[in-house]
Amino acid sequence: MQTIFSIAELREVLGAERRAGKRIGFVPTMGNLHTGHIQLIHQSNNNADITVASIFVNPLQFGENEDLDAYPRTLSADQEKLAAAGCDYLFAPNSKEVYPNGQVIQTLVEVPGISDIHCGASRPGHFRGVATVVCKLFGMVQPDVAIFGEKDFQQLMVIQRMAEDLFLPVEIQGSPIARAKSGLALSSRNGYLTPEELATAPALNRAIRTTVAAINAGRRDYLNLQEEAQITLEEAGFKRDYYNICNRFDLQPAQSDHSELVLVAAAYLGKARLIDNMVIDL
Ligand code: PAJ
Repeated sequence: MQTIFSIAELREVLGAERRAGKRIGFVPTMGNLHTGHIQLIHQSNNNADITVASIFVNPLQFGENEDLDAYPRTLSADQEKLAAAGCDYLFAPNSKEVYPNGQVIQTLVEVPGISDIHCGASRPGHFRGVATVVCKLFGMVQPDVAIFGEKDFQQLMVIQRMAEDLFLPVEIQGSPIARAKSGLALSSRNGYLTPEELATAPALNRAIRTTVAAINAGRRDYLNLQEEAQITLEEAGFKRDYYNICNRFDLQPAQSDHSELVLVAAAYLGKARLIDNMVIDL
């Protein structure tokens, strides 16, 4: 696997691949890779001839009081994992490469509506930062297919909407949530948890499964179900963020006659903010 730091070199190398007729798969990440990320690499390998991963901790998607500085940077371990997974190129630009004008206002990509609810409500500007950097990365890599995890369900929807609205010539694929045996969704942010919090963390997924089971058993009083779960989570030691039963296609509150739903949830545990979701077919 070749690691590339500059856009110029990336263009040269991938230009040659493209001229040789290779289909390019792309997996954008912020590094500190775990099995969930590696699953995306495998999916790219299965859907393209060449897999490019990127590692860039994108300052634009972090709020002022968030964990930008603390975000784990583990380049050499990540390189080993990517190489072992059969990734062909790692693109690891620095901030100056991606944002040459620094703090100066430049082009921003905004996907209104979907970006303002759930995670977007708790993290104003977050999805603008995600959409902007992913759009820039797509311009640099020019992938044929790009893979995103369903763990960040709302992020995947934002990217799909952006690609469709801007007619970007890239196929966006989702990939199922990779979980620990306990049910906890794998996340780089799980590393912020103390051993005690790590034992508590699977309660988020347990609450989701309990709610989904109740819905499958016929309950449609969604507001009550949400509140019951929030109380359970608080009793387990979480602080509330959101816990919402939604229509799967627009992430608006589910109505009792909707049949394709998703439960999206986020909760604070110690220094970490954990997210999880589950799709529900009625
Ligand atoms: P990051 O959190 O590093 O995640 C990179 C990709 O891995 C995302 O598509 C995310 O959904 C996926 N992923 C993370 N944990 C997963 C899990 N347990 N199962 C399946 N997929 C998982 O998401 C970002 O980075 C950034 O916002 C980014 C898209 C790179 C833009 O900066």
